[in-house]
Amino acid sequence: MDKRWAALAVISTMHAGTKLVSGDFGKTREGALVRIYTLTNNSVEATITNYGGRVVSLKSGGTDVVLGFDSLEGYLNDNPYFGALVGRYANRIGHAQFTLNGVLYKVPKNDGDNSLHGGLRGFDKRVWTPRELPDGGLELTYLSKDGEEGYPGNCKVTVIYHLTDAGELKIEYAASTDKGTVINLTNHAYFNLKGSGDILGHMLTLTADHFTPVDRGLIPTGVLKPVAGTPFDFRKPTAIGARIEHNDEQLKLGKGYDHNWVLNKKGSELSIAARLEEPSSGRVMEVWTTEPGIQFYTGNFLDGSIKGKGGKVYGRRSALCLETQHFPDSPNKPRFPSVVLRPGMDFKSTTIYKFVR
Ligand code: BGC
Repeated sequence: MDKRWAALAVISTMHAGTKLVSGDFGKTREGALVRIYTLTNNSVEATITNYGGRVVSLKSGGTDVVLGFDSLEGYLNDNPYFGALVGRYANRIGHAQFTLNGVLYKVPKNDGDNSLHGGLRGFDKRVWTPRELPDGGLELTYLSKDGEEGYPGNCKVTVIYHLTDAGELKIEYAASTDKGTVINLTNHAYFNLKGSGDILGHMLTLTADHFTPVDRGLIPTGVLKPVAGTPFDFRKPTAIGARIEHNDEQLKLGKGYDHNWVLNKKGSELSIAARLEEPSSGRVMEVWTTEPGIQFYTGNFLDGSIKGKGGKVYGRRSALCLETQHFPDSPNKPRFPSVVLRPGMDFKSTTIYKFVR
């Protein structure tokens, strides 16, 4: 067989077992129709909506391991990015401004003095154009116009979700622009591998020798700090709750873990970033990514005020996020890996959530 055809045959067998069904999820307040898609492959099922590209549910062995809502209404109401596709710039930009090509750009302040997760109406609150792929994948596209939320350039973003035969939810991001801009895309799923209770007993491993300490506004200071000898050392499997209340300045600033870890890698190869194990169920999820960093957030700001699926109250630390990303505030940190996207460049990024057991 011609080599190219052989490669294609391999790719199509990767998702050979995926079934995709779709339906209506409701309408936005402006009247736009929103759809919902269920991808099933063996024991993994992912439900995704084109409203904010949100992962509504993710089931492994029948247990839903992500927080969210039963209906579109929940997502339209204020919520902390449940399952969302976050952009144009995931996490924070300090003082809500940055300079690019000598021009100062101001983006919305929606987190004290800083800008968080793309501003007031980021990618998580947009209706994306969906396309069902013949191989059982779901493609979402969105054109973020020049000046939207203060960002320069018409930026075309494509995100493809697949469930692979190996028990993986694979998310592939691509973007291009017609003017220099900054970009940082992630998924903001809140995981609880037990399906209920808190996440303090989950065992976490992070492939990172360093993290980026933050200031009071959770903006990185610019230093890469070794994790050795600190509560930020997750190089060996460690219970999340083991050190979360330690008397540590960084833990106090984050009200728990809410930091970016610097992944041990040379370039943008796909590598393992995290392994999460929930002892009582035996469930294990790995996170693989081409990104240089991961935000590990322990749901410190969940306060029980939100009722989610089945009326469940989402309390403090009832879930955790593992957001693959470039480092927060990179537009203002010349030493951090670049987040600049210029015309003619192709932005590409892949993240995999893999259910091992
Ligand atoms: C941030 C947290 C924030 C959460 C929800 C995380 O990515 O690091 O500080 O509270 O998202 O917005």
